[in-house]
Amino acid sequence: MSDIVLSFKAVTAKPMNKSKKSTSFGGITGNLAIVLGTQLLSGALVMGGATAAMELGRVSVPLVLILILQGVGAAWLGLRMGLSRFWGAVQFILPMAVYVGLRLPIPSWVYLALFVATGLVFWNAAGERVPLYLTNKTTWKVLARFIADKPGTRFIDLGCGLGGLIIHLARNCPQSRISGIESAPIPFIISWFRKYFSGLNNLVLEYGNYWVKDLSGYDVVYCFLSPVPMTALFDKARAEMKPGSLFISNSFPVVEIAPDQTFEVEDSRNTHLYVWRI
Ligand SMILES: C[S@@+](CC[C@H](N)C(=O)[O-])C[C@H]1O[C@@H](n2cnc3c(N)ncnc32)[C@H](O)[C@@H]1O
Repeated sequence: MSDIVLSFKAVTAKPMNKSKKSTSFGGITGNLAIVLGTQLLSGALVMGGATAAMELGRVSVPLVLILILQGVGAAWLGLRMGLSRFWGAVQFILPMAVYVGLRLPIPSWVYLALFVATGLVFWNAAGERVPLYLTNKTTWKVLARFIADKPGTRFIDLGCGLGGLIIHLARNCPQSRISGIESAPIPFIISWFRKYFSGLNNLVLEYGNYWVKDLSGYDVVYCFLSPVPMTALFDKARAEMKPGSLFISNSFPVVEIAPDQTFEVEDSRNTHLYVWRI
């Protein structure tokens, strides 16, 4: 395993100076706070402008224009504050969606069903403080380089979400044995169907909690979680993983334990991969 990181360096990402600060990551709570704040600000500005136009210019501004302008303003402010384009789109649609939602005669059970479905997707957001967001495709390709595709190299994604990464790795590293474990019901079911229809036989998917998963059988352990579990998870990895194996965290370092190498992926969110050799 000793040449995995070295052979990868020149190809897809550049190693970072250890002292360089990692990207800040506000998480879903930070994003939602920005969404709410910018909607309120944009809404206030647009309503102020519309009122002034009506009072001073005797021009009536149609509601649909107000909603569009509020969405555009909030999206622009959100992007300026560092939100991704996905959140920019959410910002744009939100005022119109709320308006339509309030006008439509939607039965109350629909809201309950949506609430339950959201809970089954973001199962670990409250207890584990780990919501669902996904490793992007550029990072999938970078991670494939970490896996020396030697017969039997064993990789696991702790909290494999919708299964996109593990399916990509299993398909592109056919000699490796790729695993994923997930405890959120809906993401697990989606992963299960994707695995089933992929027909890949070097892919293992497990429903369960990674805290009770023995990590001693893996050469590469990968996670993309949140700052909250990192210290305890690193302690678990160090206690269980074999010497020479790799522990990789996407975006979240371990407080006070410097990684052996840090890679900056050349993607739009400037992903950082922290790599420790056990
Ligand atoms: C940020 S997502 C990452 C998904 C996937 N690894 C990827 O990179 O695309 C983190 C995932 O970890 C799952 N998770 C959080 N705590 C877990 C636990 N204790 N056991 C299993 N899965 C967990 C969440 O449900 C979520 O799907």
